[in-house]
Amino acid sequence: MELIVARDREDLVKARRGGEVALVPTMGALHEGHRSLIRQARVRADQVVVSIFVNPLQFGPNEDFSRYPRTFEADLDVCRAEGVDVVFHPDVEEMYAPDRQVSVSAGPMGEVVEGAHRPGHFDGVLTVVLKLFNLVRPDLAVFGQKDAQQLALIRRMVADLDLPIEILGAPTVREPDGLALSSRNRYLSDDDRRVALALSRALRAGAAELAPAAIRATAREVLAAAGPRLEVDYLALVDPETFADVDESYEGMAVLAVAARVGATRLIDNVTLTLTRGR
Ligand code: PAF
Repeated sequence: MELIVARDREDLVKARRGGEVALVPTMGALHEGHRSLIRQARVRADQVVVSIFVNPLQFGPNEDFSRYPRTFEADLDVCRAEGVDVVFHPDVEEMYAPDRQVSVSAGPMGEVVEGAHRPGHFDGVLTVVLKLFNLVRPDLAVFGQKDAQQLALIRRMVADLDLPIEILGAPTVREPDGLALSSRNRYLSDDDRRVALALSRALRAGAAELAPAAIRATAREVLAAAGPRLEVDYLALVDPETFADVDESYEGMAVLAVAARVGATRLIDNVTLTLTRGR
């Protein structure tokens, strides 16, 4: 089947074939991590739609919206190679009416951890994701665990607003040396990249500890050892569903998450671990 490129609502309606539809929302600059999301969608659905849209609503005024990598032709090659049926690639005018008024609020959970450093970011993410759900009408949608708070908030939105869509989370894909794949990795020089490795190293070292205080302390030590070129925004050990900090009495799954800047490039990463008091 030839890949269909849909640029507007009408194209999307025409491309609809029936059967189970899976959506993989992306901002393009596709890499192996996106390929793994697409493969997960492919296994589950009759028709796979990948959206490629750099969403201005989720970027703050001093963030990298204008220089975010845009590699549309290469992205199409990836989609063809992965057997994607439809690429939805709207422009900003197609997605947002100039007089739009209503948007989605991520609520208090959108204001902690990553949200505390990027005000309004998750409102922008949820608004575009809800619009994509309404336009594509998928039965299921696949998101990466690398954006753990985004995934948790999308699950919350689906539950709180009764959206009839199954959400699948896909594991983070890493380079052999541990660096989590990200579209922003292409900004990193060789030197930056060496510094950036401290993120995954810190998460691994933290996750090897048993109790929350030790997990946080060990991970922070590894981040500090990377030197002043690594500017840490946060290191957080949180409940994976609420993103509230966990205390020493907490038991169950937890997410150890980090965000840091190397030069002008901001990177995030996380691991999931299980806390048991006798661990
Ligand atoms: O994870 C991303 O690439 C974006 O936040 C998403 C989900 C495509 C919304 O713009």
